[in-house]
Amino acid sequence: MALKAINPTTTDAWKKLQAHFETIKSKQLKDLFGSNPERANDLTVQWEDFYADFSKNRMTSETLDLLIELAEELDLSDAISKYFDGDIINATEGRAVLHTALRAPKDARVFVEGGNVIPEVHEVKKKIENFTNSVVSGEHKGHTGKAITDIVNIGIGGSDLGPAMVVDALQYYKNHLNTHFVSNVDGDHFNEVIKRLNPESTLFVIVSKTFTTQETLSNANSIKSWFLNTLPPEAVAKHFVAVSTNIESVKAFGINEANIFPMKDWVGGRFSLWSAVGLSISLALGYKHFESLLDGAHKMDTHFRTANFKENIPVISALLTVWYNNFFNAESEAIIPYTQYLNQFATYLQQGIMESNGKSVDRDGNPVNYQTGTLIWGEPGTNSQHAFFQLIHQGTKLIPADFIGYVESLHGNKDHHDKLMSNYFAQTEALMNGKTEEEVLSELKTQSTSETEISQLTPFKVFEGNKPTTSLLIQKLTPESLGKLIAMYEHKIFVQGIIWNIYSYDQFGVELGKQLAKSILSELNEGADNVQHDSSTQNLLSYYKRNC
Ligand code: F6P
Repeated sequence: MALKAINPTTTDAWKKLQAHFETIKSKQLKDLFGSNPERANDLTVQWEDFYADFSKNRMTSETLDLLIELAEELDLSDAISKYFDGDIINATEGRAVLHTALRAPKDARVFVEGGNVIPEVHEVKKKIENFTNSVVSGEHKGHTGKAITDIVNIGIGGSDLGPAMVVDALQYYKNHLNTHFVSNVDGDHFNEVIKRLNPESTLFVIVSKTFTTQETLSNANSIKSWFLNTLPPEAVAKHFVAVSTNIESVKAFGINEANIFPMKDWVGGRFSLWSAVGLSISLALGYKHFESLLDGAHKMDTHFRTANFKENIPVISALLTVWYNNFFNAESEAIIPYTQYLNQFATYLQQGIMESNGKSVDRDGNPVNYQTGTLIWGEPGTNSQHAFFQLIHQGTKLIPADFIGYVESLHGNKDHHDKLMSNYFAQTEALMNGKTEEEVLSELKTQSTSETEISQLTPFKVFEGNKPTTSLLIQKLTPESLGKLIAMYEHKIFVQGIIWNIYSYDQFGVELGKQLAKSILSELNEGADNVQHDSSTQNLLSYYKRNC
């Protein structure tokens, strides 16, 4: 059944939230803490190895109740059931959205068009496991009898970002295989990767759901030509595998069926790392760790499905985005992991969140009359503190931030870890408390600054504070906890889409750019100059053609 389509701004809860916003918009977080000694406990959810503290957000328990009322009025529970049960919730593409089925246990039953998809999911997982084991153990040899030493994932967007982020994040758990990612159609990208590789000991994993993406096919073809400079065509069978829904096109590329890892159209590209798209993850970390990642995601699925909204981490997190985006008019959200391992996490989430919820038409096909998707950005702390934190602290924009930290470090260097985490705690406190005029004055006085200087400097040194943060404290970065974390954001995306009454699982905007690039490429290749463009594009094309 279809998702309901209700304009959120027409609900009673929205009106109540508007009225409530007027009473809360100028309240200071530190005063909210002062007036309620139980605030931190009231607004924290502890679940398994996750401690999610929402209390440094500009809300009260009443705000949360009203946001939950909004979710209920929009029938979020019904939408969640449809999401997990395989209903066609990606209606614009006529598809179910079932990344959750990819991590469901063997005995689960999820039906698409009358058939249970779980047995096939587990068949593909078995194929991934067997192939991983044979490559990692060295049993799978290259054409000349050498064991595989290097894996190259060729894909873009969801066929790159998820696997690349996870392999980097979980490098502590990696095996001996070197893993590389080629995504950009920029020829310099793939040349920089292959220049270090020996084709005799390299395995190429071509990942493309559609197997039509220009970047991936160009890279795959160029890499295959480079490979065939050294090895004969029959060697392709030992060195090229593919992940796709488009089996015929993969075969036409020259990969035989045994080397194809299938995926289904009900897996969205940006949610596909749990499918065969995660083959590079499995190869890099070993199948056992890949499975733990999936198990973690499944645990988060269960939490999301069963916890009541008041204790539901993805639900609260999504509702807070709505609160800031639609009532405080915040435009962006920062993701700040206090671990270098999550260096690529914000980039990964940019696709997940912005490709999903960057929509301006509602589920009835009408333009929305409210704001939808947020801008996502971020970098690991502490590096980001020395880059863009100044703007969060003292700029004019409200930027809610998720702080993600771990209780334990992986290499166990407690001295460094305590320093890292003291920055995490200090920043959330500083963002909330700011610095008052009195504090600045007394600080300047102790520095024996002159009265004139004190009065000149004070306005610049006062921090307003009241900057909202969510603190996520996780026990340790493991494949399982990373699976939980990624799934948490996936469900947050889903909830936002439901509240905003948009379709989160298509991406027609990106596809327009892909089509235009194709037609301009044929102009460049064929030298045609009779195609009409605006004068700016025309000049740019002429300049490029004259000078290349
Ligand atoms: O960026 C648009 C997009 O369609 C993404 O949704 C997808 O992840 C990416 O292109 C790659 O697509 P494919 O896996 O089909 O090559």
